[in-house]
Amino acid sequence: MAEDKRVDLGIELSGIRLRNPVLVCSGTYGNGREYAEWLELEALGGLMTKSVTLAPCPGNAPPRLWETPSGMLNSIGLENAGLERFLADELTWLSHLDLPVWVNVAGFSPEEYVEVAGEISRTGLAAALELNISCPNVKRGGIHFSHDAHEAAALVELVKAEIEIPLYVKLTPRCTDIAHTAAMVAAAGADGISMINTFPAMAVDIETASPRLGNVTGGLSGPAIHPIAVRMVWEVARAVDLPIIGMGGIWTWKDAVEMMMVGSDAVAVGTLNFADPAAPLGIVDGIAAFLERKGMDSVTELVDMVRGEDE
Ligand SMILES: Cc1cc2nc3c(=O)[nH]c(=O)nc-3n(C[C@H](O)[C@H](O)[C@H](O)COP(=O)(O)O)c2cc1C
Repeated sequence: MAEDKRVDLGIELSGIRLRNPVLVCSGTYGNGREYAEWLELEALGGLMTKSVTLAPCPGNAPPRLWETPSGMLNSIGLENAGLERFLADELTWLSHLDLPVWVNVAGFSPEEYVEVAGEISRTGLAAALELNISCPNVKRGGIHFSHDAHEAAALVELVKAEIEIPLYVKLTPRCTDIAHTAAMVAAAGADGISMINTFPAMAVDIETASPRLGNVTGGLSGPAIHPIAVRMVWEVARAVDLPIIGMGGIWTWKDAVEMMMVGSDAVAVGTLNFADPAAPLGIVDGIAAFLERKGMDSVTELVDMVRGEDE
């Protein structure tokens, strides 16, 4: 396994030590517990939980998933059991693992974000928070904040004032200038950026002329969005001096290396987990083998290797 490799896969993000730079994306690994009997969760670099909201959230009408060429549409819609159950059932369980956990926080108003983030921070059980201001599958809240860089920054300031653990802000690709949004949330006090969330999309059953998803539209993820995610990470890495966790269609270790080379310090695997929940561990091994082949001592050497013409 990766621990035996001679190269150093360990990284540090905002003071949090990760044994390797491969995490799992919010909403694609449950809250980890579901997979514990199948694989060694502690071999992951970190885990990003499903979005947690203050009250239980039933999510959207089924069907909620649809496979597309090179991708997947989902319209889960922030389904979760709410903060109280999350703290009692999930976070307490997760805290017994030697695994850094980013708790993903969502809300329908600034007050709700602040309350959920504050409560989680005060438990002392989470390594960091991931602020989901970018879910495309809810009718109100969420996405609203990341459409407007000023609102996103204002929310970050409010949340930062309530917490004592690092705050990562999850950006949507659904904006005209993602580097600008990143710079605004950085100035507002974000400790890191995670990116990207899914792209709003739609598919139709032409026999019945009906949408494939109960919610009509959903978020597109998977390999179809990977090159766009790479471009956006590249842009954001040049705009802010914060750690970046890059995600979007990572399917093989090569995609992970590519994402790091354009400036992400770590990567998170999402849709691929639905095909193979052990795939992130194979990606760890692939990165290690690549580093060895290239004669590199540390995975941090990969970060930001690709230079542009103007640099
Ligand atoms: C089924 C599904 C559920 C998701 N749920 C969440 C969620 O609750 N919160 C969130 O911030 N992102 C959520 N995402 C977005 C992923 O965390 C990730 O940002 C996105 O899927 C891009 O990565 P990928 O192409 O590797 O899947 C979800 C994605 C999928 C496919």
